[in-house]
Amino acid sequence: KVLVCVVGARPNFMKMAPIIRQLQAVRHLITPYLVHTGQHYDQAMKDTFFQQLGIPEPDKDLGVGSGSHAVQTANVMLRFEPVLDEVKPFAVLVVGDVNSTIACGLVAVKKNIPLIHVEAGLRSYDRQMPEEINRILTDQISDLLFTTERAAADNLIKEGISEQRICFTGNVMIDTLLANCQQASSLAETLQRYGSKQLVSEKAYALLTLHRPSNVDEPETLARLIRVVGDISEKLPVIFPVHPRTQQKIAEAGLLSMLPEKRVIMLPPVAYLEMLGLMQAAQLVLTDSGGLQEETTALGVPCVTLRENTERPITITEGTNSIVGTDPAKIMQCVDDVLSTGGKSGLVPEYWDGNAAGRIVDEIVRRYQLAG
Ligand code: UD1
Repeated sequence: KVLVCVVGARPNFMKMAPIIRQLQAVRHLITPYLVHTGQHYDQAMKDTFFQQLGIPEPDKDLGVGSGSHAVQTANVMLRFEPVLDEVKPFAVLVVGDVNSTIACGLVAVKKNIPLIHVEAGLRSYDRQMPEEINRILTDQISDLLFTTERAAADNLIKEGISEQRICFTGNVMIDTLLANCQQASSLAETLQRYGSKQLVSEKAYALLTLHRPSNVDEPETLARLIRVVGDISEKLPVIFPVHPRTQQKIAEAGLLSMLPEKRVIMLPPVAYLEMLGLMQAAQLVLTDSGGLQEETTALGVPCVTLRENTERPITITEGTNSIVGTDPAKIMQCVDDVLSTGGKSGLVPEYWDGNAAGRIVDEIVRRYQLAG
């Protein structure tokens, strides 16, 4: 019985790694068939992640690459369909909320192949976010929906999804985080590896990531954010691994000069173990990423989220996350609070315990009666 598992973009890789590992443990019941859509294709965005996370080479690489949302989604669909014809899986498993998630999900259900969605039910209630559309649509067409926090089931039930399809199993991304904490690269190793000669001490810098279209595609918003990062860097150094789309937008908008070279260390996109080390050693994290909000909560590191909303509310109610938006005064206020008080001390949410993938695979075996 073949289960097609789909990854496409960087945040998918750490979610799929523990699922593949658990599937390998029940090889007599399920044969995993890994498809990489190729949405992220750079070595920095893909290969090092596969190596560090021990993900096997994909059985199929669709090689779609970049493009507009329509082009990217359509290309994934066109190239994914023949794979299902050839492999004839009993189900397709997708993770997260990227374009590859909805594209492959849609192809599967149109062929009457059950769709399994891991990380279902998260809602920012902001339909300007491409990921929000991907989340809503993927959940609507899924047969089995695995959630990371309890509020997700309420969102799904409100959208008419039957409770029987929803299963709270916890956070697979935290499985990966806990499995790799000991192997994380040290701060010094990472700075050296990426050719930075600057000295920064542990727990005395801010780690920054930015890539949401709403923050980087609009030149005024981007300029506002970059300016406040410059201001923050006067208080403590900032380490900034730059996503390719952000790199391009900063260059286009001529904003590089706002980031003092000695105080803001810009790195290319870093690999998983480097990012984990950078998070662990940071005094605080500034980000618009979804994943980092969860990872900082699991690590107990204060997180300042540069967005107006979050689809991961448990990181606010239980974790170390604060939502501040893009108003420079509010961002500065929050950073000052963290620097003076040490920031929120959070709890690690229920089932963020390193065993989520095991629970997911057990449930798949049970639901699809694979144990005979
Ligand atoms: C995608 C996801 C987003 C996720 C992010 C993590 C969607 C809608 N968005 O956004 O949810 O948080 O990945 O990184 O699926 N590029 C490269 N090399 C690559 C991949 C991309 O240079 O390997 C550049 C291209 O110029 C491309 C741009 O980055 O146009 C954006 O890539 P894309 O995959 O379209 O979306 P992301 O912004 O990465």
